[in-house]
Amino acid sequence: MYSLLRSVLNRKAPAWGLFVLLLALFWVLPLCAKPAAPPKAAIATAHPLATEAGHRILQAGGNAFDAAVAVSAVLAVVEPYSSGIGGGGFWLLHRQADDFQVMVDGRERAPLAADRNLYLDPQGQVIDGLSINGPLAAGIPGEPAALVHISDKYGRLPLKQVLAEAIEIARNGFPVDEHYRRMAQWRLKPLQSDPAASAQFLVNGEIPETGFLLRQPELAETLQRLAEEGHAGFYAGELAEKLVAGVKAAGGIWSLEDLQSYRVLEREPARGSYRGMQIISAAPPSSGGVVLLSMLNILSQFDLEAVPDLTRRHLIIEAMRRAYRDRASYLGDPDFVEMPIERLIHPFYAAGLARDISLEWATPSSSEAPERREGNDTTHFSIIDREGNRVAATLSVNYPFGACFVPPGTGVLLNDEMDDFSAQPGVPNVYGLVGGEANAIEPGKRMLSSMTPTFVETRDGVAVLGTPGGSRIITMLLHGILSLERGEGPEAWVSVPRFHHQYLPDLVQFEPGAFSEQQQAGLATMGHQLKPLSSTFGNMQGVFWNRESGEVSAASDSRGIGSAVVQ
Ligand code: GLY
Repeated sequence: MYSLLRSVLNRKAPAWGLFVLLLALFWVLPLCAKPAAPPKAAIATAHPLATEAGHRILQAGGNAFDAAVAVSAVLAVVEPYSSGIGGGGFWLLHRQADDFQVMVDGRERAPLAADRNLYLDPQGQVIDGLSINGPLAAGIPGEPAALVHISDKYGRLPLKQVLAEAIEIARNGFPVDEHYRRMAQWRLKPLQSDPAASAQFLVNGEIPETGFLLRQPELAETLQRLAEEGHAGFYAGELAEKLVAGVKAAGGIWSLEDLQSYRVLEREPARGSYRGMQIISAAPPSSGGVVLLSMLNILSQFDLEAVPDLTRRHLIIEAMRRAYRDRASYLGDPDFVEMPIERLIHPFYAAGLARDISLEWATPSSSEAPERREGNDTTHFSIIDREGNRVAATLSVNYPFGACFVPPGTGVLLNDEMDDFSAQPGVPNVYGLVGGEANAIEPGKRMLSSMTPTFVETRDGVAVLGTPGGSRIITMLLHGILSLERGEGPEAWVSVPRFHHQYLPDLVQFEPGAFSEQQQAGLATMGHQLKPLSSTFGNMQGVFWNRESGEVSAASDSRGIGSAVVQ
């Protein structure tokens, strides 16, 4: 700029110098002058009590990272069917001051005593239910370590202050709602069969009435210990001993070493672009970012605006099919397996995948896999603070109420995330997902996930979004991003009617209203096998900061009971 100024001030300067300076003044400078921070903060979570807790932490001077810890902890108390300190998750962070982005990996790990045959009978067949109910289904939790890590490294307020509201709600109770009752109904039998889980989540072995104040005093004590002692409060000492003793007494294989050696990892997010938008998303051990980028890369080979609506839907399904096929073939824990990630998310590779898509016919998936039941378990929240810091976090105990097992005296509901491994390569898990060797069980390995917390940087703004929903998470993100690309806001991203294909089973699952009768007939003629679902799925939480207009907006999916605030 200095040399340019000099040349312009020089009377002999060529006219183009003046032209470039004017261009800089009128075009480049206004771009640089885009606000570095939004005028308001926004939070969207799956439960109003969590949204309120995050809001209060921001009001108390905390940043988005403090709010994320508070929200995670409250969700752990009020949505025990979705996430918890007996589970794990991925927290995608953006720090505005230095444009730093990282994925905090608090994913569960396989116990050190686990091996690839853990869930097989002597004939090599998968034993039904063993990776879903009871302590053998539980990976070593990562959420407590992640909360301490995020608070210590990125937060501003003391952990004690940030966890106070979750502790208070665990101690004094929260009112049971219809959604809690539905989830408890789904998992009633396994909840009833564990005395500690039954005592914590049921009343005399039955589902509590709507409005019943559900108190969890042992969970409150455990959270208090975490607040006071940090990482060691969960992974060492008296609590760790109780966790291991409870797991072992009920047939599990945890050891103290499993807990003592658990570490949070910081990973470089998966990155790519789609039609001028930058996508920043979850990296392995989540398959989310890679599969999402792969679908977007395939779709970028087509002009979706120019093709008939039916062809557009067909192309989206075919992109889903191909990206999920690669998920099954290649993805696992990056600390254990070599994965061709660069290739999988490269536009040239996608161009190859797109070339064999017929505009008229569905490509059959190579083999059949049985269908399995799907749940809206797992949870997601999105936050942006007034400094422009942002958090997209997706957290899970896997199936509703996880393993339905609480080690006595801890209040910690354990996850059943071990089911996200391939119990036997090629055999589908509870989501009907098949996995390969890359996701076989190994001691200390993290199981492959579909959780996809995501940031999207558009030409004029910044989006934070994600959703629960098992194997359907990644295709829901695709629908949300395609909506964003059409210029729509968070209310539209979270509401768009959803359809899903995951390679196997070879079915297009869709929500009521996602396809008209005519579209269904058209897709069937192309060779797609359609599976209408009787209910909706997903629970997306999104926030958007429009840097051009300064407007901040947020939305919580009306399919759930969550809430969004702009403050
Ligand atoms: N347990 C769900 C996921 O990680 O994908």
